[in-house]
Amino acid sequence: MTISPDVAAESTRTPRRQRLRHYAMTPPTFFTVEYAINPWMDISTPVDVERAVAQWQNLRDTYRRLGHTVDVVDPVPGLPDMVYAANAGLIINGVAIVARFKHAERQGESVAYANWMDEHGHHPVATRHVNEGQGDLLVVGSTILAGTGFRTQPQAHAEVASITGMPVVSLELVDPRFYHLDTALTVLDETTIGYYPPAFTDDARTRLRELFPDAIEVASTDAYVLGLNAVSDGKHVVHPAQATGFAQQLDRAGFHPIGVDLSELLKGGGSVKCCTLEVFP
Ligand code: ARG
Repeated sequence: MTISPDVAAESTRTPRRQRLRHYAMTPPTFFTVEYAINPWMDISTPVDVERAVAQWQNLRDTYRRLGHTVDVVDPVPGLPDMVYAANAGLIINGVAIVARFKHAERQGESVAYANWMDEHGHHPVATRHVNEGQGDLLVVGSTILAGTGFRTQPQAHAEVASITGMPVVSLELVDPRFYHLDTALTVLDETTIGYYPPAFTDDARTRLRELFPDAIEVASTDAYVLGLNAVSDGKHVVHPAQATGFAQQLDRAGFHPIGVDLSELLKGGGSVKCCTLEVFP
């Protein structure tokens, strides 16, 4: 008898375990699309701030309902991209690496986020090279996956390795729509990721296949709605609702997908993960 792949996957389903998390988020009070620094941004598209705030509140409430802690950072007028809190930096192992942004339009955010880190006892440290925080620096188990190609510079990967004492795996991105690592790859638990292979160089793909043989590879329809810009607690995966194919893949792999609508924030080129900075213990 032959077993269909679905049934086989079902029978080997890994039990997924939730670990409670600590996040920081910044409301889109001053959100606009008034400059274009990635292909998703179109300054002629109007933004509905009230709707953006309501969508953001729903995301925050979803995390809180799941039992997670969410700190809210004060937004600053004139910094419309501050809502993408993932880019603030990387807080781990008792250090807070503050972002150094590539584009002048976002550089003021570093000061705002460094102040917030300081006030919360996180000891901000700067890098000499461009690093866009958890947009390009994703923690999986005890390793950091680091994106480059569009924003974070490879020299910053070396700085991050020496500041954190953690191994850093550099992954080069090739498609401008997937300009940050968190637009093309999501960490699902300590050993599992989801990703979109065409967003990476051949070398990066080979490396990912070696490191994550059980990875979920998503289709372009899901990647093109930023479906991978998701946040997992090891069991529940909060993801952009439009990524329905990815949701099915998650379900088959034993995760619990939770779709949320962040269509207003997509106009700035970000979604669930972009709006969420995880604060590691
Ligand atoms: N407009 C922002 C930029 O281009 C979006 C950042 C999205 N954040 C992320 N973590 N991918 O920088």
